Amino acid sequence: KQILVINGVNLNLLGTREPHIYGAQTLADVSIHLDKIGAELGIKVAHFQSNYEGAIVDCIQAARGNTDWIIINAGAFTHTSVAIRDALTGVAIPFVEVHISNVHARETFRHHSYLSDKAAGVIVGLGTYGYEAALRFCARELAK
Ligand code: DQA
Repeated sequence: KQILVINGVNLNLLGTREPHIYGAQTLADVSIHLDKIGAELGIKVAHFQSNYEGAIVDCIQAARGNTDWIIINAGAFTHTSVAIRDALTGVAIPFVEVHISNVHARETFRHHSYLSDKAAGVIVGLGTYGYEAALRFCARELAK
């Protein structure tokens, strides 16, 4: 069983970018932690980050046939990208949408997501723990 964690635009800056909003953990810290939880749960965790919308679309398309769940924080692409939405629905891999911050407590342009109505669930505002919560949820679904 494989779960793919996709991080979009600017999430490579995690740990140094607006730490009062996104926390002190780097993306590498988060990935290592998820690998550890995955190992405990007997699930392979794959990781992808890009600042390029098309690269994320390519990654989602390549996941077809080898990935059981996707966990995605598309960053600002969340609020702009019909293309990422279409890729996710196109491959028909179930996914959980994660946002580190509570997007609903921020600017109104962050309140709309092109992904949420297609997601199995959406996690916002739990900090980087949101990725772990999503991973544990996916593992539970896979065990059903
Ligand atoms: C984010 C929220 C987005 O609005 C923002 O553009 C990001 C990060 C989050 O994880 O809280 O880059 O997805």
